[in-house]
Parts: sequence; C-alpha cells; structure tokens
Amino acid sequence: MKKIEVCFTPALFEHRMLRDNLNIVIVDILRATTSICAAFQNGVKSMIPVAGIDKAREYKNRGYLVASERDGLVLDFADFGNSAFNFISPELVDKTIAYSTTNGTHAIEMVRPFGRVVIGSFLNITALSQWLEQQQEDVLILCAGWKQKFNLEDSFYAGALTEKLMETSSFQLGCDSAEAALDLWKTGEKDPLKYIDKALHRHRLKKLGLDDVLDYTFQMDSCPVVPVLHGDELVNIIKV
Ligand code: MLT
Repeated sequence: MKKIEVCFTPALFEHRMLRDNLNIVIVDILRATTSICAAFQNGVKSMIPVAGIDKAREYKNRGYLVASERDGLVLDFADFGNSAFNFISPELVDKTIAYSTTNGTHAIEMVRPFGRVVIGSFLNITALSQWLEQQQEDVLILCAGWKQKFNLEDSFYAGALTEKLMETSSFQLGCDSAEAALDLWKTGEKDPLKYIDKALHRHRLKKLGLDDVLDYTFQMDSCPVVPVLHGDELVNIIKV
C-alpha cells in the first residue's frame, strides 16, 4: 500500500516521514494552485514557477509574460496578478507564463529536489487523485500555508484529497496530520464556502477586493488537469 502524509506548513517539510519515491502535491487554494489549474484548463502551454521577485523581473526583461503578486497585490512590473480569472483569456492560449506568488511558488521551489511536484486544487481534485492512484509513489501533500504558518484552506483541501485517495483503496494514512486533515474536511465538506469563511486569507482578499474568485475556487472538478513540474516548467500531463 502507498502512504499519504500531510505537511501543514512548508516549515514542517524537513521533518516529514516519507523521504523517497514521492509525488509531492503542492496546495495553495487561495490562490496560486487554483490559478495554475485554471490556466491549464484554458490552454496555457506552460508556467515557470519563480520564488523571488528579482528572478520574476528578470523573466519580464527577457520578454516573458509574468504573473506576480505579494500579499495579494500585483507587482508593478508584472502583466497581471494571481486571480484565477487573470488566467482565463484567449490571449494566453499556448503561452508560457513566469509566475511568482507570496507562498505557493516558494513551496514549489523548496520541494523540487525531493520528489515529483504536482499541483492540487478543488478544480482538479478527481483528475489528480485518479492520476496519483496510477503512480507507484507515496503521496506527500504540502500545504503552502501563509508565510510558514498553518492556514485553514490548504489544510481543509489536504483532507479532501486524502479522502479521495483513501477511496481508491491503494493508499493508507501515513501520519496523524493526514487524519487531522480528514477531520477538518469532514467538518466543512457540506458547505466548503461557508467553512472557508473562517480563514484569515479569505478576509485578507476580501479587504483588498480580491475575493470575487471564491465561488470559482470551490467548483470541484471544473478543470480536469494534472500540472506537473518538468525541469523548470509546469505542464499539464492530462489532455483537456
Ligand atoms: C500565495 O501564493 O501566497 C497566494 O496564492 C497569494 C494570493 O492569494 O494571491
């Protein structure tokens, strides 16, 4: 049986139990990984996750399209920010976008030497779990959190994905954090949007007028894509 482990924050990653042969699912529900799934569903060719602002600016200077934000706000040199709606445009079909966000792209950068990086959100939850079932590797779900701290929305999703994987019967829980994530999910699954009202970042986005994308964020299986990091680029390995 393959194992499932959940890391509630990037700071816990170095203490993980699973070490080898890993698919590492990066989760940043509000909003980086939701936006990545939206982008691929809408025909973007690839995305280059970039942790630092200087590197993102460098991509801009080299002529790339750049999506970039810090604390929710679009950076001055970027073409656009981090709402999933920014990535739903016919102009982006077949394009490569360099992408830098407050937490999500840092998490990707941090874990890439340690396993295969895969992107998870509610938009692709079934496609992702089916794909993970077909693979040989254990699954580590890494919540991007907020600046190394726990957040509710990513942990809640970790529970939803854990439940899906357990339904396939080729997985077993590898740690108490997977159990805890499952409990969180069960608490709010009947009305995810209502449950997420408790999350701090939901209110941070609301204050900034950036929460129009919330309903979209919880549209389960609206984007059946599986974005995987190949070299420096995220690509969708499932045909849309
Ligand atoms: C992040 O990567 O930190 C988030 O996606 C930020 C945001 O809400 O845009």
